[in-house]
Amino acid sequence: MAKKILVTGGTGYIGSHTVVELQNSGYEVCIIDNLSNSTIQILDQIEKITSIRPDFSEFDICDKPAVDNFFKTNDDIEGVIHFAAFKAVGESTELPLKYYRNNLVSLMNLLEAMDEYQCSNLVFSSSCTVYGQPEKLPVSENAPVQKAISPYGNTKQISEEIIADVVYKDETKAISLRYFNPIGAHPSALIGELPIGIPNNLVPFITQTAIGKREQLKVFGDDYNTPDGSCIRDYIHVVDLAKAHVVAVERLLNKKTSDPFEVFNLGTGNGYSVLELVKTFEQVNKVKLNYTITDRRPGDVEQVWADTQKANNVLGWKAQLGAEEMLLSAWEWEKNLKQGIIKS
Ligand code: UD1
Repeated sequence: MAKKILVTGGTGYIGSHTVVELQNSGYEVCIIDNLSNSTIQILDQIEKITSIRPDFSEFDICDKPAVDNFFKTNDDIEGVIHFAAFKAVGESTELPLKYYRNNLVSLMNLLEAMDEYQCSNLVFSSSCTVYGQPEKLPVSENAPVQKAISPYGNTKQISEEIIADVVYKDETKAISLRYFNPIGAHPSALIGELPIGIPNNLVPFITQTAIGKREQLKVFGDDYNTPDGSCIRDYIHVVDLAKAHVVAVERLLNKKTSDPFEVFNLGTGNGYSVLELVKTFEQVNKVKLNYTITDRRPGDVEQVWADTQKANNVLGWKAQLGAEEMLLSAWEWEKNLKQGIIKS
């Protein structure tokens, strides 16, 4: 019998790619999503890729009775991968309570239901934002967590603390995955990132500019202390990232964890500057990008990339895809969006 995994936020960007990889690996998947930042059409897309339509429940995980009822009627869930959260850094500064309530109440509801219904395996979606600007690069999991710059980042830090407190007390085991910068789309170009409104993140802004939806990309600063002056990040292909979730959930199910709360960095270990990424995008896709250099964006760290040794050696996962594949797939997806693959 296939093991059943709950994916919260499973119609979102990273969630949908993870559902595909879980189904491809033989897991039965059920999704909870309130569709606040995604569309129901993603289920059709997942079905086109895997020939399986995942079970779907539309509700808000902040609704505690709904969560309890869900676990009551799905008492065979063996693992939970929790993606559902708000993630817009700028908005979180404007509306901090919206972020604290949504991201923390949902997690607590989930943890309480998991405890009550004896579901003891949790994979949590965290971020390299917890490191701030690290003193030492590449940054390893042992680096100190620094005071968060945004309420969004703080919700990730507090969530990790909540999970740690819970797992050392009861039966639950958890793996927190700290993502660096996920970009790209599924090679089928049937799923990808679907930003609502003006994108905050670099790659959707690049692809929307290249397709003519945005006039010009602004590169935020070229006076940083980096070789070309622009910020450096560790961009990771969303499919590699999705596969890491399958490995993590398997580790929990097979009781291979060495600590009730484990943390892994998910990146490639390579840093790319904004300008390098822009140039690689132009080269691999043979398109010209209209961009200009502007002021720094407040809150940006100068440079960060991952020490991936722990993920490679302990988790047994390594990113396979490079920047070219990331940017090719992101562009194929943007072109499909223009063709109306997803109705707005
Ligand atoms: C941001 C969040 C991070 C979150 C991640 C994924 C911050 C400080 N961090 O990472 O917590 O987990 O998104 O949602 O906000 N850039 C431009 N022009 C643009 C957009 C971005 O030059 O139009 C530059 C940025 O200055 C940065 C790089 O591109 O150097 C990447 O930016 P972005 O994609 O927004 O990701 P992060 O800021 O690294």
